[in-house]
Amino acid sequence: MADYLDDSVKRYLRATGPDHDEIHAAMADHADECGFPIIGPDAGGVLRSYAAATRAERVFEFGSGFGYSAYWFLKGMADDGEIILTEIDKEELAEGERFLAEAGVADRATFEHGDAMEIAREHEGPFDVVLIDHQKSRYADAFELIRDELAPGGVVIADNIFYGAVDYEDILPYVESGEPLPDDDNTRGIADYLDTVRAADGFHTVVLPVGSGLAVTTREA
Ligand SMILES: C[S@@+](CC[C@H](N)C(=O)[O-])C[C@H]1O[C@@H](n2cnc3c(N)ncnc32)[C@H](O)[C@@H]1O
Repeated sequence: MADYLDDSVKRYLRATGPDHDEIHAAMADHADECGFPIIGPDAGGVLRSYAAATRAERVFEFGSGFGYSAYWFLKGMADDGEIILTEIDKEELAEGERFLAEAGVADRATFEHGDAMEIAREHEGPFDVVLIDHQKSRYADAFELIRDELAPGGVVIADNIFYGAVDYEDILPYVESGEPLPDDDNTRGIADYLDTVRAADGFHTVVLPVGSGLAVTTREA
């Protein structure tokens, strides 16, 4: 759970937040063993909520790892909904296929190995929800790539806005008063992403201090 929260707030959130089922618990154990950065149950619960609220039939992920976030989406999506997972690491994607098969939902998932940006160009929308969780320096380009493919009322969710490869305290002076950013691709990538989505006509963005921090950008209906 994110380090920017007070300990008692973390305990409160964990005690009241979404729970793992058996498959999610096995995935979380696997992430612990490998030191792999999954989105976690609180942010996962947000993915599930947006999938349910939009009655999502099509979801696209930039950076799926071994399917932890995708499994949260699938829990909220329409029964006949399809999620497209993208992952540059073949082994991780294969693990994702195994986990989602074990959960009985692999038939609703398309597993695409390769560069998420290239794969996004090959899949036409409309998408109801999109998750951006790959290279921070390419978040803004990912948004530009899919913004016109988003259904009206559709949502783009980007992870690591506070934490994980970046520290929000490095971005704060820039967003508050335009001070220069540190010379770091990840930090600059997140700052650029926030500038891009906040300036996008016809979209509204809110940053949620959940998990590692989510930026939720909704297309006007
Ligand atoms: C933070 S992890 C994703 C975690 C996943 N969304 C979850 O919560 O379960 C980021 C993943 O993006 C993958 N990745 C990095 N660059 C990528 C690219 N260009 N295309 C596809 N995947 C990429 C990494 O291999 C890594 O597995």
